[in-house]
Amino acid sequence: MELGLEGRTAVITGGSKGIGKAIALGLAAEGCHLVLLARGQELLDATAEEIRGRFDVGVLTVSADIREADSVKAAAARAVERFPTVHVLVNNAGGPIKRMDRQIEWSDTDWVDDINLKMIGMLRVTQAFLPHMARDGSGRIINISGIAGTSVLGPALTHGFNNSAMIHVTGYMAADMAKENITVNAVVPGLIGTEWRQAWAENMGKQLNKTTEEFLDEYCKRIGIISGRWGSPEEVMDTVVFLASDRARYINGAQIAVDGGYGVNARA
Ligand SMILES: NC(=O)c1ccc[n+]([C@@H]2O[C@H](COP(=O)([O-])OP(=O)(O)OC[C@H]3O[C@@H](n4cnc5c(N)ncnc54)[C@H](OP(=O)(O)O)[C@@H]3O)[C@@H](O)[C@H]2O)c1
Repeated sequence: MELGLEGRTAVITGGSKGIGKAIALGLAAEGCHLVLLARGQELLDATAEEIRGRFDVGVLTVSADIREADSVKAAAARAVERFPTVHVLVNNAGGPIKRMDRQIEWSDTDWVDDINLKMIGMLRVTQAFLPHMARDGSGRIINISGIAGTSVLGPALTHGFNNSAMIHVTGYMAADMAKENITVNAVVPGLIGTEWRQAWAENMGKQLNKTTEEFLDEYCKRIGIISGRWGSPEEVMDTVVFLASDRARYINGAQIAVDGGYGVNARA
């Protein structure tokens, strides 16, 4: 299927590892030039090197902290110096739960830091890149939410706050940006086997005296993932690449689950 992404430019926050890196590789495979944002320059450089080694696309890395407005503005200025038009913006930066303790007892600082990163960070990045986005119908904003926003998952209160808000605000953004011919959609991943999730599964297995595979097998069944396993970052990437493409031009304001059927709420 021809996706029409060749020669376009995609900005990916949190593009140095995990789901963001998989999305970067997937868009590069379709011929997109990339701007990767994250705080850690070393990992950004390693990821960019890997992408350049595999695909003939331009990759710019910019170290930025999306919790800070000035850092985001400076990153956008650097990005458009190299790539004046941005076609695809993937708001993906986020990450693991900070701590497993009871979040209702967290300090204001801890709550605000999490919300400032994922939810307000997404607005900040969108605001900074919006003036530079294509208005010819190829403009796409894709927000990476998560199932902590559509269900109640252990202690993940701030993740729930961020991810549910992100899904709802995606609708507001889609309505606002329709006049500029930009579509805005949310992707809602389930349990995805990124590097930190791998470490989490190993650790949980050890605590329960089980192998990682045994733990994961039981966990996936227990929480109702009907496909019976976690997803790979590449399986999230496939959906994001499609949404970024011309083929998805009539999908707007949607929330698309990539969760192995977790969302059907199956009970054993
Ligand atoms: N893995 C899952 O099971 C899962 C499930 C549902 C939803 N999600 C969502 O998917 C997204 C990616 O998750 P992941 O598991 O791939 O996480 P990850 O492997 O921890 O990667 C997170 C990325 O975000 C960047 N980042 C973190 N804080 C940042 C900041 N303040 N400013 C700029 N960049 C920042 C990180 O780089 P630096 O640390 O160098 O900044 C890294 O590139 C998140 O929004 C997460 O909530 C993940």
